[in-house]
Amino acid sequence: MDRDKILLTPGPLTTTLRTKLAMLRDWGSWDADFNAVTARVRQSLLKIIHGEDSHVVVPLQGSGTFSVEAAVATVVPRDGHVLVLDNGAYCKRAARLTTLMGRRCTVLDFDEAAPVDAAALEAALKADASISHVVLIHCETGAGVHNPLQAVADVCEQHGKGLIVDAMSSFAALPIDARAVRFDALVAASGKCLEGVPGMGFVFLRKAILDGCAGRSQSLAMDLHDQYVYMEKTGQWRFTPPTHVVVALAEAIAQFEEEGGQPARLARYTRNYQTLVHGMARLGFMPFLDPSVQAPIIVTFHAPGDARYDFKAFYAAARARGFLLYPGKLTQVETFRVGCIGAIGSDEMEQAVHAVALALEDMGIASGEPAI
Ligand SMILES: Cc1ncc(COP(=O)(O)O)c(C=O)c1O
Repeated sequence: MDRDKILLTPGPLTTTLRTKLAMLRDWGSWDADFNAVTARVRQSLLKIIHGEDSHVVVPLQGSGTFSVEAAVATVVPRDGHVLVLDNGAYCKRAARLTTLMGRRCTVLDFDEAAPVDAAALEAALKADASISHVVLIHCETGAGVHNPLQAVADVCEQHGKGLIVDAMSSFAALPIDARAVRFDALVAASGKCLEGVPGMGFVFLRKAILDGCAGRSQSLAMDLHDQYVYMEKTGQWRFTPPTHVVVALAEAIAQFEEEGGQPARLARYTRNYQTLVHGMARLGFMPFLDPSVQAPIIVTFHAPGDARYDFKAFYAAARARGFLLYPGKLTQVETFRVGCIGAIGSDEMEQAVHAVALALEDMGIASGEPAI
């Protein structure tokens, strides 16, 4: 069958037909029609975080990591010192790219099954006055932990430190209000909870720091200040824009607004999450995280303890039923992940659980119960 598979992954994810159809036209990058779409997307993005007064938004070509890298390069001075709050794989990636760009980087380690801790951050800032910026991953997609954005932002504000937030997998689903949470940069992308297609990121930059960012980036392509100045002047992207991705995002945002914006999206993802977790529990599966720290974005499950379990075979059996699972990203325990985001509802989650039940049956495994 040529029907699209349901993507239970944190991006790319399942999109609506309406979003896909938006990509069936060609657009000139200099053309006023396309520039109007870019302007509309930027306005809508700012509205989502109530950031019209305090922030600007700068789109950037590429996957999400390109925008994280661009945010660090643009916001952190070359002699700056970045503290990364690390409770998972995406935090480690942020630390690595910071170091590769020649910025001094210190990592504050936390358990990957728990949120980062604002009190530990405060102690670290007190102990080392040279730290200029903090990096926080809002939803650590590695395990699915919801990190305390407000508490971390408050500590950074009290200590006069810049905050860079990777909100890649949380933006548009978890609430973020720029009027209440102070950050210098917040990064997200087209192909996540806005349910567009992958290909562009965007970074919210605090207006108050904008002028100071000129010339900081050691990379031309990653310079968000330069991209911003050019876009403000011309209405155009500096270099070839991902035209189809931008128009698909505009269409996805229209549907996001029609659905009821961030609260409605969070409510749907929460229902997806509950349907998934309850269904998987019936099969014996156990989530890795305590529900109190879990974001309803992506769920990490312990692998079944049965010796016949093998992720590749499990993946193939679920895939044969039309559902794409996601491998685990933890180092200590064997897990797999299931995304709750995308243009899907609880019906699809029920069907996904059924596909998992059939996959177990194929493998001769009686229960998803882990070994621990
Ligand atoms: C928290 C977080 N940061 C960064 C990224 C990187 O995005 P990409 O793979 O699009 O570069 C992801 C992707 O899922 C993510 O979840």
